Amino acid sequence: MSDYEDKKNKAKSYTLFNNESGQSFEIPVLKGTDGPEVLDIRSLYKDTGMFAYDPGYTSTASCSSSITYIDGHKGILRHRGYNIKDLTTHSDFIEVCYLLLHGDLPSIIDKQKFEKVINNHKMLHEQLVNFYRGFRRDAHPMAIMVGVVGALSAFYNDSTDFANINQRMIACHRLIAKIATIGSMAYKYSLGQPFVYPKDNLSYSENLLYMTFSVPTKEYKVNPVIAEAMDKFFILHADHEQNASTSTVRLAGSSGANPFACIAAGIASLWGPAHGGANEAVILMLQEIGSVENIPNFIKKSKDKNDPFRLMGFGHRVYKNYDPRAEVMKVTAHKVLKELEKSEDPLLKIALALEKLALKDEYFIEKKLYPNVDFYSGIILKAIGFPTSMFTVLFAIGRTVGWTAQWKEMIEDPVNKIGRPRQLYNGSNSRNYEIINKRETKSIFQWLWSKK
Ligand code: SDX
Repeated sequence: MSDYEDKKNKAKSYTLFNNESGQSFEIPVLKGTDGPEVLDIRSLYKDTGMFAYDPGYTSTASCSSSITYIDGHKGILRHRGYNIKDLTTHSDFIEVCYLLLHGDLPSIIDKQKFEKVINNHKMLHEQLVNFYRGFRRDAHPMAIMVGVVGALSAFYNDSTDFANINQRMIACHRLIAKIATIGSMAYKYSLGQPFVYPKDNLSYSENLLYMTFSVPTKEYKVNPVIAEAMDKFFILHADHEQNASTSTVRLAGSSGANPFACIAAGIASLWGPAHGGANEAVILMLQEIGSVENIPNFIKKSKDKNDPFRLMGFGHRVYKNYDPRAEVMKVTAHKVLKELEKSEDPLLKIALALEKLALKDEYFIEKKLYPNVDFYSGIILKAIGFPTSMFTVLFAIGRTVGWTAQWKEMIEDPVNKIGRPRQLYNGSNSRNYEIINKRETKSIFQWLWSKK
């Protein structure tokens, strides 16, 4: 067999060479159906006695998955092979939920059956209502959502055995259905208004609006333009590969924690301003900028290494191009503001001017910082009437289907094992023990702020 043939048939690999010992190690390359190949370093520690070092996982594939594909350089986002633009144009959120969970788009019959199943699960156990009463009225709705979702296993214990496929599916359906009810109840509770039960004759997004904004004393008619915008919002937030909150769900699930606890962990991770909390932070930033004239100062601040201020809604670990979700969100924002006769929304004006200036700025161009999914989403939500404290709750409602689909994929992955990263240790080496009366007293400064 020719050398070329031999090479072609041999699986591709990289050789790691230790130039001290002269030893070399073959590292196999694994190829997926799209995107970068990976170095399979699973036996690296066993073979070399060394760990790979990648804090923040900037170059690490934590799993193999077939749910979502992102090409950050080309600004591509696909779910099960379907482009996000096609999904937001032709599908509704329930269809995308089916796609993420089951791998294909549903037929008309399959969609009707799936929608009925989700509908059957959208009410909450009535005793959970008391759970809400334990919170202060001014509790952040994300704190309520983390608490209530974490408590679901106490009420739905018959769908926590993840080894049982039926229980696994029921848990996914319950979470997707109930998360919208839980989120809208958190809002009602903060207002001191009565909880509103969902209706079978409303779609997922129509129900969210109905449960959030209707009151028992008035007829409430869902605005179809707003319902469509919410549906697009949920599709755009449905899943996004192995982001921080999804990785949190997978890590929690790898220990065998019940699905409700895993999703509660994902909600907690999403809350951070560097992640899902950014949509709330964008609005607060636009309000702080206050006028188009102030924008250059804030762009300057965001570039100052000594200033922790960052342009919220800009930049992304993966997208080094315009986030395709931000494009759809921007068009939806214009539609919603027009429908609500708020096209002159001052925050939109500042956002459009900020985007224009930042995209022409050398720093943003060189660091490939573009608007991300959070940059325009808050403008839509604020115009519809949600308080900023509900923005990340709405992100979590959309993302719950992605978290459950990724959790289910991990549970069903034959190579699934408990996640247990290692570390580069740089603490104290072995020290002799000193009894307490031999130890020196430190100054308060040393004690509170010592870097050791
Ligand atoms: C989401 O992972 C996902 O997929 C997340 C998400 C999802 O759907 O799950 O897409 C949702 O979380 C979107 C991102 C929302 N967060 C924000 O909008 C917060 C503002 N953005 C930044 O905090 C930042 O861009 C991150 C956290 C999003 C990404 O940070 P990285 O990948 O760790 O990049 P980095 O911080 O190393 O930045 C690279 C450089 C740095 O400068 P240098 O140290 O190289 O000189 O770019 C700078 C950063 O200072 N930079 C910014 C900036 N973002 C990065 N400078 C000013 N403003 C910004 N927003």
